[in-house]
Amino acid sequence: MTALDTLQRDLDMLERSGRRRDLVPVQGRDFASNDYLGLAGSTRLREAVAEALARGVPVGSGGSRLLRGNAPEHERLEDEAARFFGSEGAVFLGSGYCANALLFSTLPQRGDLIVHDELVHASAHEGIRLARADAVGFAHNDPQAAAEAIARWRQAGGRGTAWIAVESLYSMDGDRAPLADFADLAERTGAMLLVDEAHATGVFGRDGRGLAGGLDGAENVITLKTCGKALGCEGALLLGPAPMREFIVNRGRQFIFSTAPSPLMAAAVRESLRILRDEPWRRERLHALVGRAQAALAGLGLETSDSPIQRVVLGDDRKTMAAAAALQDRGFDVRGIRPPTVPVGTARLRISLTLNVTESDVDALVGALEEIL
Ligand SMILES: Cc1ncc(COP(=O)(O)O)c(C=O)c1O
Repeated sequence: MTALDTLQRDLDMLERSGRRRDLVPVQGRDFASNDYLGLAGSTRLREAVAEALARGVPVGSGGSRLLRGNAPEHERLEDEAARFFGSEGAVFLGSGYCANALLFSTLPQRGDLIVHDELVHASAHEGIRLARADAVGFAHNDPQAAAEAIARWRQAGGRGTAWIAVESLYSMDGDRAPLADFADLAERTGAMLLVDEAHATGVFGRDGRGLAGGLDGAENVITLKTCGKALGCEGALLLGPAPMREFIVNRGRQFIFSTAPSPLMAAAVRESLRILRDEPWRRERLHALVGRAQAALAGLGLETSDSPIQRVVLGDDRKTMAAAAALQDRGFDVRGIRPPTVPVGTARLRISLTLNVTESDVDALVGALEEIL
């Protein structure tokens, strides 16, 4: 059997189990993107990019940050982001995936323990796979389970640092971590706390700083703010104490051995941070949409979230994909989410609320859901 035969066999297996994925052109009303504040196509971001181009900001960085790729736009963004989020240092990376891969593979050292919520994102798992430290998962949103995992490790002779990893808002469930409890646990056990704010950045907190807003700036907290979701751009910011930044610059393989992100994108993200501050109406309108969707979904007897991420768990993969297709046929871009993205038996419709839709779109979607469920 050739290598390609092996790949084909795997694809056939995915097909038979109803898990094969296909790329499809984007169509229908947007209930699928993470462009929560509707910034991706906004006039202000377009103008910021046009203005940056006009003043000579290059499209490409031309190299890694440690070679000739370190543009003033990168440093400007990192300074502004550190000030905006209230942390000592910031590093801008090409994506949240890359940032998580870097974080877990670079900061925890041999002899440390990564203690992570069992539902952390695939990109965190990527970093954990590359990490020098051992890792152990704990039951979703259960600080007590995390505490017990750390205690067991200490009893077995673990001497290094524990790194507790959570998301402030879970991407496929729309529920929040009990951050204050995890911060207490980190304090009590001398652990570092890593908070992935991919879906909370721009949406929650003062000026959209996220749910970990009160923790940014603490010596033992590192947060990840992605720029491709509510910020409407691309890339990610790691925020933490100054030595974190220095260490990443010196030891972060994904930082050192990769072409720096486009300086134009850095200029766009700076503008997004300004929009977060200047245009609170975007968050207000988004939360009003969320409230409307919650009331309507609850009317169908469905559980809801107070975030822009609503899930309708159907369990069965094929049933979920059929429900998504039925909504798409009616003009609503709702996607079915299957394992391995979510645990087996919890396939679901993921309804994402953004400023790319109106209140009447939300009402119409809930009406369509009522018909098909
Ligand atoms: C929780 C979480 N972390 C990290 C990422 C990766 O971020 P990016 O899309 O910028 O690569 C995602 C993306 O979906 C995510 O949901």
